[in-house]
Amino acid sequence: KRVGILMGGLSGEREVSLRTGEGVATALEERGHDVVRIVIGPESPAVDELVRQARIDVAFIALHGRGGEDGCVQGLLEWMGIPYTGSSVIASALAMDKLKAKELFRLHNVPTPPYYVATAQDLGGTLADLQELHASFGFPVVVKPRGEGSSLGVSRANSLEELDRAIRAALEFDETVLVERFVRAMEVHVGVLDGRVLGAIEIVPKSGVYDYHAKYTVGATEYISPPRLSSTRIRGVVNLAERAVRALGCTGAVRVDLLVTEGENEYVLEVNTLPGMTPTSLLPQIASAAGIDYGSLCEAILGTARL
Ligand code: DAL
Ligand code: MG
Repeated sequence: KRVGILMGGLSGEREVSLRTGEGVATALEERGHDVVRIVIGPESPAVDELVRQARIDVAFIALHGRGGEDGCVQGLLEWMGIPYTGSSVIASALAMDKLKAKELFRLHNVPTPPYYVATAQDLGGTLADLQELHASFGFPVVVKPRGEGSSLGVSRANSLEELDRAIRAALEFDETVLVERFVRAMEVHVGVLDGRVLGAIEIVPKSGVYDYHAKYTVGATEYISPPRLSSTRIRGVVNLAERAVRALGCTGAVRVDLLVTEGENEYVLEVNTLPGMTPTSLLPQIASAAGIDYGSLCEAILGTARL
């Protein structure tokens, strides 16, 4: 069977995707698979043309962000009759849309930090307008574009002035922005493969903020698996992660990002349907702590491909 690794793309996470794709392609080649790298870029032919030319039997989607993680490429592969890794069209779209995902979490009683939505219209010019929107929401907050990954366009705000700046920065990435209450907590990620939990990992960014730099610079973040939590607490976190995955209907390899407070609370931040597979990415580390090496993880993900 000829395996096409779809990588690159046009989103802000293009570089991350190229690293994910190269890692996966090399690992599957080493395991004897017939691999073809399908690199999507600004100069390449249309995606359907690229995929057709590659004559593949199955697609391993190593794209991140818009166009690759949001159901678009999944829909194309559905039309072409090519099985693919990751979630369905609808689950991919829901998970990538932080607003729709949060609405579904609330519907399914999956706790998620409180939030409101802002658009360019809310930045009428004066901070008074912003004050009206923000009302009694309080500070600090985390401002994020509605549909991005790898923390692109994400920043923290402690005042109205910073909020104004943070919203403008996030609007560079999307027309809609989420203003979310900042929760002082331990960040824990849970890896799931076709409904089976692989494990959990605690994230300790050395700078205190888990941003793009902390995510992709070797040594910038400490990872601890299993997290420094009681086994009861870990069970609770894992259970919550599973509920979040079910709420959105995700399948294949999934990574759920959560916050665990010192008190009683746990929150789901988001579900990633095409988790990064770079050397510093979390899913490979979670799998490794569970005794599954990188190559075996790639093989297992490939095994979940379906139409
Ligand atoms: N969006 C990046 C690739 C991740 O979730 O790992
Ligand atoms: Mg994400």
